[in-house]
Formats: sequence, structure tokens, C-alpha cells
Amino acid sequence: MPDYTLSDDLSLALALAAAADLVSIDRFRAADLRVTTKPDRTPVTDADQATERIIREGIEAARPADSILGEEYGGERRAGRQWIVDPIDGTANYLRGVPNWGTLIALAIDGVPVVGVVSAPALRQRWWAARGHGAFTAEPGGDPRALRVSGVASLADASVSYNSLKGWDEVGRIDDAIALSRAAWRSRAIGDMWAYMLLAEGALDVVSEFDLQPYDMAALIPIIEEAGGRFTSVDGTPGPWGGSALATNGLLHEETATLLGRA
Ligand code: IPD
Ligand code: CA
Ligand code: CA
Ligand code: CA
Repeated sequence: MPDYTLSDDLSLALALAAAADLVSIDRFRAADLRVTTKPDRTPVTDADQATERIIREGIEAARPADSILGEEYGGERRAGRQWIVDPIDGTANYLRGVPNWGTLIALAIDGVPVVGVVSAPALRQRWWAARGHGAFTAEPGGDPRALRVSGVASLADASVSYNSLKGWDEVGRIDDAIALSRAAWRSRAIGDMWAYMLLAEGALDVVSEFDLQPYDMAALIPIIEEAGGRFTSVDGTPGPWGGSALATNGLLHEETATLLGRA
């Protein structure tokens, strides 16, 4: 089996994201966008499906021995090399014409995400990381900038995003969302991949939500961790296999986990 370096895999993930962007941005705000409802009663568009197909084709051509887990075309959790893909994170935004959506591509090795790329063409920004090689962001045609989380050390000074109040209510933890908002300097419901990337940039300090799938998180984790942050479930266990998310700048992790562990 060929021996790929992390740089090779990151280059592939960035190329896949560039190809995906052409498909997804072409259908954004299209008058004939087709929206259907999945068996889990969540919406999906023809753009989610077409974007995942082009990413899968690229992986199958370049890394035929690797497994793939994607939101729209499935796959099982596997050991070894596995690509984890959310073709459009933020479908609810995409179908309403809100630019907060992006393509998430991760490579996990034995369940540990080692490469992550988040590409948000409607926001004109991309973020990426490979484990041990730092995290970066760039606008189209611009120079990459290193990502670094904030130095905010107290929740009282922190900007937090709880992402979806409804999500906290659905797991019976609305009191925790309110407690987190009360403890923070500012609270936001930015949602989807953008909240996590703002955390990696140092523009938000805590992001937390419930009921995520592996493809919602895998690409975020190397970017946040390489930017100096921490990503666990709300109860402190490491990702990325779904459930809740608690992402912080690291300095605020214990204070936030303690507050959320109260209930
Ligand atoms: C959604 C986003 C959102 C989260 C939802 C997910 P999708 O993914 O990750 O942030 O709160 O639970 O379903 O369906 O837009 O890829
Ligand atoms: Ca998602
Ligand atoms: Ca999605
Ligand atoms: Ca979805």
C-alpha cells in the first residue's frame, strides 16, 4: 500500500474542497434548487448530494484503499484510513440563502481525525489543519494566516455560542444553555461550522451543542486543536464519534465543563 504523508493527504483534501466549492456555489440561491426530506425528517438538497458525489469520486480515484463515511451516501465507522465528509454543513442555511454553510472533509486514522478542511465559498474563506503542522485560513487568492484561539481566561469575559437553543431543549438541558449564557460576557447562536471556525480564529471562546454526528465534527477537531483549542463532548470525553460538542480555547474548558456538568 502506498505510504502517504499528512501533507499529501492535506493537499488532496484541499483539492477536493476546491472541486466541491464549484458544485455547491453553483447551486446556492438557484431558483430550481430541489429540496427533499430524508427519513430522519431533515432537509436535503440536490446540492448536498452532488457535492458529496464529487468528493467521493475524488477520494476513490486518489486513495482507492481508503474507506469513506459521508452524510448523504453513508458508510460505517472503520479503523485504518477513513475519509469523513459532510458535503454541506448548514443545509438549513443553504436552502434559505444564508451564507453560513460549508463543506467538511476529514481524514481519520484509526478513529483520530488527523486532517481537516472546512471550505465556505459563500463566506469566501477556507480553514485547514494537519495534526502537528498547525492550522490556517485564507480567502480566495489571499495568503494563509495561522489560526490561534483567544486568550480569554474567564467565562465572565467570554463570547460563547450555544448554537441552537432548540437543540439544548430537545435533550432536556435548556437550563444549562441559560446558565452558560448568564455566565458569559456575550452569548450567540451562530451555528454550524462557522461558530467552530470563529473559535479557531479567536473570535469566539466557547462553542457547545448537542446531537452531532461524526461528519459534523471530524474536520473541525484538527483545526481547533492545532489552533490551540480543545474539543470534547460536554462530559469531557474526546470526539469524534457523535453526540455533544464542547469546543473552547482550552483555557475555558474546565470552567465550562464544570458549569455544564452541574445539572
Ligand atoms: C447540522 C449542523 C448543525 C447542527 C445540526 C446538524 P447539516 O448539519 O451541523 O450545526 O446543529 O444538528 O444537523 O445537516 O446542516 O449538515
Ligand atoms: Ca452537518
Ligand atoms: Ca450536511
Ligand atoms: Ca443534514
